[in-house]
Amino acid sequence: MCLTDILQDTCARDQRVWDACASVYEDRIVGGHPDVTAYEGFEEDLLDRVLLYLARERKKRLCLYDVGCGSGRLHLRYAMKTTSVAQLKPADAQLLERARRKNPAFAYDPLWAEQLVSVGGVDFSTQMLELARAKLRKNGLGSLLDHKIFFDHGSAFDLQPMEGEPFPVAISVCNSIGVMQGPEGATKLFKAMRRAVESAGGIAIISGYRREAVATFALCNYESTMDVSGQPRWLIPDKYATSHYVQVPRAYKRAHSTDECVVVDVRDTDGNIVKEGHVLTRDNDAVRETVATGHIRTHTAYTSHWYAFDVFEEWIAKHWPSSNAYHIAGKDLDALRGEPMQMAILDTNGELKGLMQRWGCMPERNGAT
Ligand SMILES: C[S@@+](CC[C@H](N)C(=O)[O-])C[C@H]1O[C@@H](n2cnc3c(N)ncnc32)[C@H](O)[C@@H]1O
Repeated sequence: MCLTDILQDTCARDQRVWDACASVYEDRIVGGHPDVTAYEGFEEDLLDRVLLYLARERKKRLCLYDVGCGSGRLHLRYAMKTTSVAQLKPADAQLLERARRKNPAFAYDPLWAEQLVSVGGVDFSTQMLELARAKLRKNGLGSLLDHKIFFDHGSAFDLQPMEGEPFPVAISVCNSIGVMQGPEGATKLFKAMRRAVESAGGIAIISGYRREAVATFALCNYESTMDVSGQPRWLIPDKYATSHYVQVPRAYKRAHSTDECVVVDVRDTDGNIVKEGHVLTRDNDAVRETVATGHIRTHTAYTSHWYAFDVFEEWIAKHWPSSNAYHIAGKDLDALRGEPMQMAILDTNGELKGLMQRWGCMPERNGAT
């Protein structure tokens, strides 16, 4: 089998995995684990700053495209910021007002409304995209679907060059790169993102977890959310680690915890309790292997990679040979929320130079002329 065939098989398997876990992923991860929501919050604030800088200081009209957009977290965010209740039918306006009261960060902003022309995205999971569309409708924003706010069902690796106007910003966030079919998929993502924005002079941003944070963050994250992604291979015993059971951790384990145990309630697939207070313990050899490789494996088909900082560095040099590519360790911008992550930014025409200088970020020396 050639690498492309293997990648296709892996894609088909991962598509099933993401379809199956979509709704529980939404509850337990997107809006759940505090360390994940902190990372998401950091990314959202950073992206706000990038888009505001481009809109205000570079006078750009923008289109945002989210690759591996999942349940449309960012679509919802920017749809809310750019929509005035006056545009909506009364029932939708009421829904939007109610949603805004719960989250003032989603307040309407005329600058966003004028400059952010569209928010699109692609994902290969139909269930994720269905969830995303439902979320928009639930918040009164259904009328924006399929024009200003849109979702493509497809592969992250097939991105086509985007138009130059509005100015394209392609993003792939929250470690989507880590679940995109291993290192071969990750390199395809780097190439696809460049292809999408380069001819238009646009910007590509990839954000993911770092292998260096596996011991401090990944172990705790995955132990806390095994009802989404399955029992991690480093926990024993594996008595309930099959598709006949769901193990629901009783609490979120926070980063840097050295607690070797996790307490779960075991349910069958109909939700009936099978065992309460079941204790799982870390197997030290399996922990050591996970920490060394950054390859997260569970007893389901779910798999994720946390890539080392120098691996991202190599991919940036190889696939984004530009004098305006940046590699940022999240902790250098925000030690509280960015600790486990890293970010690659391709700024084809140097539009972000001023902002990067403000943040103290230097471009990578990629040997580009
Ligand atoms: C970790 S989730 C992140 C979702 C979203 N970006 C967020 O921040 O909430 C990764 C998403 O990537 C999608 N995905 C994985 N591999 C993909 C591929 N090759 N093409 C398109 N989508 C893919 C999954 O379906 C899933 O929705």
